[in-house]
Amino acid sequence: MQKFDSAYFDAGIERRGTECVKWDAMAEETGDPEMIPMWVADMDFPSPPAIQEAIGRVAAQGTWGYTRNGKDDAAALCEFWSRRHGIFITEDQVLLSPCVVSGIRIAIQTLTQPGEAVLIHTPVYGPFYDSIRQTGRQLVESPLVEENGRWQIDFAGMEAAMDREQVRAVLFCSPHNPCGRVWTKGEMQRVLEMCKAKNAALIVDEIHADFVYGPAVHTSVLSLAGKEDRIVMLCAASKTFNVAGLQQSSMVSKNPEIVKRLKEQRDCAGITFGNPFALAATRAAYRDCDAWLDGLMQYLTGNRDLVMAHAAKWPGVRMTEMEATYLMWLDCRALNMPQDKLLEQLRAAHVYVTDGRFFGPAGDGFIRLNIGCPRAQVEAALKQMDQVLAK
Ligand SMILES: Cc1ncc(COP(=O)(O)O)c(C=O)c1O
Repeated sequence: MQKFDSAYFDAGIERRGTECVKWDAMAEETGDPEMIPMWVADMDFPSPPAIQEAIGRVAAQGTWGYTRNGKDDAAALCEFWSRRHGIFITEDQVLLSPCVVSGIRIAIQTLTQPGEAVLIHTPVYGPFYDSIRQTGRQLVESPLVEENGRWQIDFAGMEAAMDREQVRAVLFCSPHNPCGRVWTKGEMQRVLEMCKAKNAALIVDEIHADFVYGPAVHTSVLSLAGKEDRIVMLCAASKTFNVAGLQQSSMVSKNPEIVKRLKEQRDCAGITFGNPFALAATRAAYRDCDAWLDGLMQYLTGNRDLVMAHAAKWPGVRMTEMEATYLMWLDCRALNMPQDKLLEQLRAAHVYVTDGRFFGPAGDGFIRLNIGCPRAQVEAALKQMDQVLAK
């Protein structure tokens, strides 16, 4: 049996020349062949062998006409969430969608009317902002507050904003990108209770649920939801198994009426058939890749510990505790450097990170570092970053 140990992940995979955004788009934009990509959220590891084999079998079909998504696709998801997260969902509660961001938009359109207010906790994944604004809803922010490198929900501020703006839905990121928080059961319960009390729907993006470092434990909103609740959870195998380019995700709700309306909204967008490669890959991901995922988490833990130890050399940088994801959130405000200048200097040192402002104005002064790559690449990036950050 193949081992998914350090040596396996150390080997990584050559991605240049595949039209991937992380390497090829960056190289085209910067024209710098030495630039190290530590930005967009995918990983420089091969996807699990079981997925490669599943895709190989579909490739061998030789023809790829309209393909239905069947009960088996939903069943594979239910099995995975039961096995990995201990939550029980049934096939009729699952609807496939092309990607999580399209699912977010379908959910917003299902649960709110144009002009109504949708609240987000900022800083947060950039497309949350566009998903609210571009569907004609009103964006309401509830800023997260940072205490000693750990980000918290300001529940009093959230409640006041919900009342003041008559918020009709909360769009929540759990675990949180970019702040790396795994929300506790108590916090999730409070968010849910507040939504119920204010008659607001709750849309929870759980795409990062599989990247949780012990002792933290992911609490899916679905473990707290009842059939009456106006809750939609969004998830995917895309981040977990590095198949984001295949564009498949799922929307899950325990409320049958909401499932029906999500489906109508999805139909309205003209989304009907599945992509045979994505369907086969996702079924394999959910059924046959646990050993790969366990090996990955061990490896990422090593990368995280390495960066945390190294960052002691950077006096102007405060590291955020990364309880989940493979995306580290670096507070660089103490450098007192304009953000453009910081990014310019890092790029001159051949390191390409994500600008904190991608997560909204509250991300000014922060950068996000993607450590989902072989350790040698992390080490190379850290060495280069020393030129800018180690004093
Ligand atoms: C919180 C969050 N949601 C959604 C996505 C994107 O998912 P998809 O490509 O399925 O739209 C990302 C990608 O980084 C993310 O971090």
